Amino acid sequence: MMIKVPRGTEDILPEQAKKWQYVEAKLQELANVYNYQEIRTPVFESTELFQRGVGDTTDIVQKEMYTFTDRGGRSLTLRPEGTASVVRSYVQHKMFGLPQQPTKLCYFGPMFRYERPQKGRTRQFVQFGIEALGSADPAIDAEVMAFALDCYKTLGLKSLRLVLNSLGDMESRTNHRNALIDHFSPHKDELCSDCQNRLEKNPLRVLDCKKDKDHPAMESAPSILDYLNDYSRQYFEQVKAYLDKMGIDYEVDANLVRGLDYYNHTAFEIMSDAEGFGAITTLSGGGRYNGLVEELGGPETPGIGFALSIERLLLALEAENLTLPIEESLDCYLVALGDEPKQEAVRLLYDLRNAGIQVDMDYMDKKMKAQFKAADRLKSRFVIVIGEDELNAGKVTVKHMETGEQSDQPIDEIVPYLQKMTREGE
Ligand code: HAM
Repeated sequence: MMIKVPRGTEDILPEQAKKWQYVEAKLQELANVYNYQEIRTPVFESTELFQRGVGDTTDIVQKEMYTFTDRGGRSLTLRPEGTASVVRSYVQHKMFGLPQQPTKLCYFGPMFRYERPQKGRTRQFVQFGIEALGSADPAIDAEVMAFALDCYKTLGLKSLRLVLNSLGDMESRTNHRNALIDHFSPHKDELCSDCQNRLEKNPLRVLDCKKDKDHPAMESAPSILDYLNDYSRQYFEQVKAYLDKMGIDYEVDANLVRGLDYYNHTAFEIMSDAEGFGAITTLSGGGRYNGLVEELGGPETPGIGFALSIERLLLALEAENLTLPIEESLDCYLVALGDEPKQEAVRLLYDLRNAGIQVDMDYMDKKMKAQFKAADRLKSRFVIVIGEDELNAGKVTVKHMETGEQSDQPIDEIVPYLQKMTREGE
């Protein structure tokens, strides 16, 4: 029986992989522009990291983690997101002691969630994210949101919407939490079993329930914005003022609740309004997580970040009919005719490659015509023909495929000749 990829995962075939490379390079460029340094953490971590970091009451920890016991009896989990790992590493390597603060980090990598697969939702997906640790300046909240938007703008996307909320600090959240419990408790029996649980453990998540979203109590639920204390309200005002200064449009949505427990103050998502993007309209999300560093054993340190998945970014490009400027071509193709020319072609191929020229040749024992066809298919700019007669004369024929021009060149000078010629068109 043929074995296929596991449900919710996919192969990225060469044509698609080129798009990934292009997008990843653009995002890396942007990280450099914004001065975020790359960090790479393991794909699996101690399960406890996510239980404490992402939060025990979240869907992610309760039903979506790929958890296993290794041969040494340790409980490990394939990471469902990047923030907890980055914060763990920040604490483990005492990055809070570095002279330059905030610590600004970025990461790429596969994440794993056992979710119901659909368009834009897979069980393995690649996130690109940034985290800024050590600053409670509202200007950095604005920086993170500007960065998140730029990830899409730099690729030409237009149908973007930044949706913003404040979840306030601990005091504001506690007051709001109590108000939510008072509000929903009389309706407890009418809510789904998940929400009945959430009502006690994390009532904010009731607002995010897909099953109960049309319950009349949802619309009249107390808004967090009415429960922000002075510090939280001022903080939110400053974040918005910085966005205004940068000329960045946003929408405040008091019902924006993120699916992870660590957020406070700023929470945001970037949505795509493009037709055909699919039922899931969120492109990326993030927010502030003051308190997470302490939770994971470090000193009191504020933090903020966001993450996007490359999969959804590529879907958005498709929905907006944007094609990436990906060049597919080869500098040169070697056509060898006969046994001795083939020997010479193998040597020449190696020399050309060592000189940095993108070159290939036939390994299928094809006739000359078919070899030229291959050169065409590969969009090769030049073809070098090595035949018996040319070889005896110490020469090869070089054909410029676009103009059809052809000339004989001494075989010993072919490397510098092609270096010059391939550079000319650039
Ligand atoms: P998140 O909202 O869980 O946040 O995920 C961020 C982004 O990852 C989503 O907006 C989406 O683009 C992508 N994503 C999530 N699940 C899937 C999936 N099953 N298939 C495809 N794409 C998916 C976080 O992960 C936080 N760590 C973000 C953050 C960083 N907050 C602060 N710093």
